[in-house]
Amino acid sequence: MLSAEAQSTGVRVPFARLDFDDPELLEELMGAVRQVAERGAFTLGDQVEELERELAAYCETDFAVGVASGTSALELALRALEVGPGDQVIVPTNSFIATAEAVSAAGATPLLVDVDPDTHLIDAEIVAAALTPRVRCVIPVHLFGATVEMGPIVELAREAGIHVVEDACQAHGARHHGARVGSLGQIGCFSFYPTKNLGAWGDAGAVVTSSPRLAERVRLLRAHGERPRYRHRVVGATARLDALQAAVLRRKLRRLDTWNRRRRELGAALRRRLCDGEAIDLPATGPERIADHVYHLFVVRCAQRDALRAHLAGRGVASAIHYPTPIHLTEAYAHLGLPAGSLPVSEMLAEQICSLPLFPGMTDEELRQVAQAALAFAKAPAPADVDLAG
Ligand SMILES: Cc1ncc(COP(=O)(O)O)c(C=O)c1O
Repeated sequence: MLSAEAQSTGVRVPFARLDFDDPELLEELMGAVRQVAERGAFTLGDQVEELERELAAYCETDFAVGVASGTSALELALRALEVGPGDQVIVPTNSFIATAEAVSAAGATPLLVDVDPDTHLIDAEIVAAALTPRVRCVIPVHLFGATVEMGPIVELAREAGIHVVEDACQAHGARHHGARVGSLGQIGCFSFYPTKNLGAWGDAGAVVTSSPRLAERVRLLRAHGERPRYRHRVVGATARLDALQAAVLRRKLRRLDTWNRRRRELGAALRRRLCDGEAIDLPATGPERIADHVYHLFVVRCAQRDALRAHLAGRGVASAIHYPTPIHLTEAYAHLGLPAGSLPVSEMLAEQICSLPLFPGMTDEELRQVAQAALAFAKAPAPADVDLAG
């Protein structure tokens, strides 16, 4: 049931809005899709090549290679680096499961580690403590649009002789001490899942790198190891980027910085408004970190998370949990034998985190509604008076 306030204002804040809510953008994207359909070239081709050039320039790398999804990007990056059976790859357990799945798909084993309680991300100390002779690679995940402190990890990796593959699937366009994420390790991986900061109209992804050898290797692997047609040099995959997705992404890439600016503006405004609510912990702090953040998600921490979500729902404000189960406690990774209690920070986060609505098309009125609803709870946390279906 909605509260009297939500009923009287009639404002409902969704968790996100997709492209059909912007008629001008929708029209432009429909035109781009029509052009591809009329030419009938649906896999790879000039739209994909153009996107690859534009994305590489945007990420300040020499190459970008379009692939079928973020998960494919990670898997092919690892395979290009010849990480496989018998190898371990360090992965934060506080991530979307795809980061670990890609390691498994490459034939290697994810070595799941905990995260820092303030940033919710991995750092060099955590990586150093996890190193074993079998570790060949680490995957720092720029989760929620916040950037991992990369310098010390890259240095440690160099000393230890292991690779660094960035999972930038939630941080398109973020800068880390001035450099674009994705350009800081050997390979950066992006997902263009529709709700991402740069989202396609279906599944899509890309790797970026400044190594010609790795770019070429991913190009081979994404299309049956084939070059030229029907000469199969390695065992590859069907992991090409569709031309339709590339055509959509090219138009949206031109708007990404504007959208990220709006995300930052909304993130800063929410932080300001929520800072005096004691029951809610705001996302990682520190001036540099805030400046880098592209707010894919605005994730707060609250000991009474379920009551907070019920309170928000009662005021017409959607919310979500990213993610309810750390990777090591999923059924899929039970075989790793990491019991509850083994990675305690991530386990605590899974019980306490709550993502509030934040998307570029959010109006100031919607922002006010989210902030007011969350602050009302933060100042006077109370047992839930409404249920989440309200
Ligand atoms: C952190 C992270 N890694 C990897 C992925 C996988 O991307 P995709 O869903 O495009 O395979 C996602 C996307 O959902 C993600 O959020």
